[in-house]
Amino acid sequence: MALITTVFSTKGGCGKTTTTANLGGILASLGYRVLLIDADPQPTLSSFFPIKHPASRGITPLVRSESGLDISNCISETTIPGLSIIRSDDPNGDLITYTQQTVVARYRLKTTLKQLSGFQFIIIDSQGANTTLLQTAVIAADILLSPISSDMVSSREFIRGTLPLVNELREMEAYGTPPIGNLYGLLYKMDRTRDSQSIVRELTDETFFPSEARVRIMETIVPSRVAYRMSATQQRPVHEIDADARSIMLDLAKELYPAIASRIESACQGVET
Ligand SMILES: Nc1ncnc2c1ncn2[C@@H]1O[C@H](COP(=O)(O)OP(=O)(O)OP(=O)(O)O)[C@@H](O)[C@H]1O
Ligand SMILES: [Mg+2]
Repeated sequence: MALITTVFSTKGGCGKTTTTANLGGILASLGYRVLLIDADPQPTLSSFFPIKHPASRGITPLVRSESGLDISNCISETTIPGLSIIRSDDPNGDLITYTQQTVVARYRLKTTLKQLSGFQFIIIDSQGANTTLLQTAVIAADILLSPISSDMVSSREFIRGTLPLVNELREMEAYGTPPIGNLYGLLYKMDRTRDSQSIVRELTDETFFPSEARVRIMETIVPSRVAYRMSATQQRPVHEIDADARSIMLDLAKELYPAIASRIESACQGVET
């Protein structure tokens, strides 16, 4: 069974798609089988990497949990070894309407993905607005990763938008629904001149007690660098074009997934020697 990570925020443009693509890229480079899923009706992730074998279908049948569904018809192969993708096929946002209709509709994606074999990691990209489709992606996850651009406005959006969304879904746990994943806040597009420590302190103070430690602000910080834009333009994982970005992506993977730390450390030594 794959570990499912959903990259999300109630804020747009904070680095969700870039983080999804590059986290997937680094995990695939470590030899894991990785499945990316584009759950954003604006399908940026779907074309982030070149597609070698396009599938005829995309995310819609998974969210709808169509009976008799052969998921292999939904999985496209990218040109990056080990990296597959389920593309967005919902330009009109019909899945938002579908998941609005009943609560159980928001749980079907999780059930479908838990039956999927052949991947160690699944990473879901989502839209930057609080819709029932975003809630569906959050419910599906074992781990929640939320990029926070390093200014006060974004940190407050995390506290006022992203965190309440997760806490509200957690209330469902009292009714026997599967647990909502722990939330990791990732300081993103760090500007060297900003006082990141004060933002971290504010976020940590605001999140620790109400969340009973199910929210953590990560030690890994992703800086603002042109390499991340270049990676999107060149349709390549950022770790292939920039050594600093490679080490940041490895740090991010190690902090999110401590169970694979030893493989990551071997990969780091492989580069240094
Ligand atoms: N670390 C970075 N440094 C500089 N620019 C970055 C970095 N990461 C991403 N970008 C750029 O910032 C922009 C927004 O990033 P991205 O598309 O990943 O955000 P998003 O949260 O997915 O946005 P949306 O809410 O529209 O889906 C893109 O132009 C991307 O190339
Ligand atoms: Mg995006």
